[in-house]
Amino acid sequence: MSTSLAGLRIVVSAGPTYEDIDPVRFIGNRSSGKMGFAIAAAAAQRGAQVRLIAGPVHQPTPRDVQRTDVRSAAQMHAAVLSALPADVYIGAAAVADFTPRSFAGSKIKKQPGEEGLTLQLVRTRDILADVAAHPQRPRLVLGFAAETDEVERYARGKLERKRVDLIAANRVGVEGSGFESDDNALQLFWPGGERALGPASKQVLADALLDLIGERLAAMTPLASPRTDQT
Ligand code: CTP
Repeated sequence: MSTSLAGLRIVVSAGPTYEDIDPVRFIGNRSSGKMGFAIAAAAAQRGAQVRLIAGPVHQPTPRDVQRTDVRSAAQMHAAVLSALPADVYIGAAAVADFTPRSFAGSKIKKQPGEEGLTLQLVRTRDILADVAAHPQRPRLVLGFAAETDEVERYARGKLERKRVDLIAANRVGVEGSGFESDDNALQLFWPGGERALGPASKQVLADALLDLIGERLAAMTPLASPRTDQT
């Protein structure tokens, strides 16, 4: 039996972001959005109120999910923060870490004799860290980490640095898992614990992830109830 999430407000980000260079070019990545969409679908099936903030993907909107489409990391940042307050944030999007310093309003043309082009990039704002530091911080904040090596060390580093409650790490570059595939394997880390999920389909993983989120929420100290004694 899967844990009910009835009444919980869950915000999920999914897919890549596209950072425009000029009217015809952008910097993107290979995220398909499948993992985030599978989580959103499974959470809605369990009765949660789901807001899905999606980068540019080719995925149908899951049933009973309220979807907002965005393109850039800056737009995703604004859309996620405006979806708060929420009980849970799941940052499954592959957000660009860097964006062009400026957008060229007309197409960049090759200049005669020009052998290279240097693009200036600046850091994007970290949505996950900003949600975790927000005055309306969700009770549980989950981030993803794509790692090629030293999975646990990097994942635990992100847990602390971004002050989140759970990190779902997946090893990229391994056959049968990762960005474009239908299957994946996740290693979940939280302060004082870890659990391996999969390899399995992204639907099965989404369900297992929501079970764990239910467990972690139940394990967190409930908010202190107001004192009624008068001393
Ligand atoms: N993330 C975010 N906003 C950004 C960048 C990343 O919210 N501007 C979130 C992603 O949604 C994901 C997690 O942060 O949940 C991934 O963390 P990040 O440090 O970007 O991971 P990597 O790209 O794997 O980082 P690194 O380059 O340090 O390996």
